[in-house]
Amino acid sequence: MLRLPVKDLKKGMIVAQSIYNHCGGSYLVRGSSITPKYIQRLEKIGIPTVNVTSADPNFQLQPPEDIVQETTRFDAIQHVYSAFQSVEHEGRLDAQAMEKVSDNIVRDIIQRKENLVQLTDIRLHDTYTFAHSVNVAILSAMLGMLCNYTHDEMVVLTLGALLHDLGKIDVPVRILTKKTRLTDEELTEIKTHPEKGAEHILELEHELPSTGILAAIASEHHEHIDGRGYPRGLAGDDIHRFAKIVAIADVYDALTSERPYKRAYTPNVAYNIMKKISPGQFNPDLLNLFFNNVAIFPVGTILKTEYGYAIVKECEFGKTETPVIVLFANPEGKLTPSPLIIDLSTDPRGAGVIEMVIADDELRHFIHELGVDPSKYLREDAVLA
Ligand SMILES: [Fe+2]
Repeated sequence: MLRLPVKDLKKGMIVAQSIYNHCGGSYLVRGSSITPKYIQRLEKIGIPTVNVTSADPNFQLQPPEDIVQETTRFDAIQHVYSAFQSVEHEGRLDAQAMEKVSDNIVRDIIQRKENLVQLTDIRLHDTYTFAHSVNVAILSAMLGMLCNYTHDEMVVLTLGALLHDLGKIDVPVRILTKKTRLTDEELTEIKTHPEKGAEHILELEHELPSTGILAAIASEHHEHIDGRGYPRGLAGDDIHRFAKIVAIADVYDALTSERPYKRAYTPNVAYNIMKKISPGQFNPDLLNLFFNNVAIFPVGTILKTEYGYAIVKECEFGKTETPVIVLFANPEGKLTPSPLIIDLSTDPRGAGVIEMVIADDELRHFIHELGVDPSKYLREDAVLA
């Protein structure tokens, strides 16, 4: 996958990540082929970059399958948008529609359980909350399934995740979208959203099912298991088990998405931050389970390894640290005559050979230098040793 400035897009390139507008409509759908009309439209809207599966329009490489259908995701974003609007303006929401959306997410995930989480989407800054809530719901449902929750439990968990940030309707947009560092007062204001969200949910008692659990998810999703979170500083088992799940999904999605004040981190950076830099924040068993099914090095990632440069060809459940790679260049960056497939899960050195992930800017330069996009080694018909 490669992030390209819109001016460098070419007809026939395949979109690797969907781009949504604020209420779930799509500017660009993952898997579609770029046309001159799309390019014009993206320029007009002011979208700076697009992720494509290959820099070579002739490769026509499809992105890996998502864990939910595109229509499920669109529909969910639209309904979260409407729900936030109607709670804010009318103090109610369409509970039936929200339950249906949650049920659809759960059904998709159960049906597509062999799919790893590989790519999500691109959110425009002012529209972050809705698409984020849907991603958090999808990731939470996935984790619920890995915990062997029942279908009904998964639906409640998903619904709670969709509404986990509902309290943000009471935080001024100015603060939510601020590009610079927040003042202490602004931070205090933002930190009220878990409890405000829980209050709104409890007021919907006659419309929504399981409001007690949904309110616990909203109020406890920023608590840490070591007691250092907010708003109440709850620890360990005092935090609802669903809130512990949503906490992981929430932080992962926030780290891997672009925000007004930061670029999107790659999944491996998010993994390092969550596993190593934040001990005590998450339940370690849940975190391990989560990263068993979230690709740390998604298919198409270019790696610098001790053996040379390689592209990730496959990643499997439980082996996300050790993907199958295609080694195509030596450590000096010179193309090897016959690329080699290495399964790092059976390689004696394993994950230890991975030195770094090649960043987007560097990758564009690298492709230019090589004169070839390594994504060609992912094609079915690529001849490999
Ligand atoms: Fe939150």
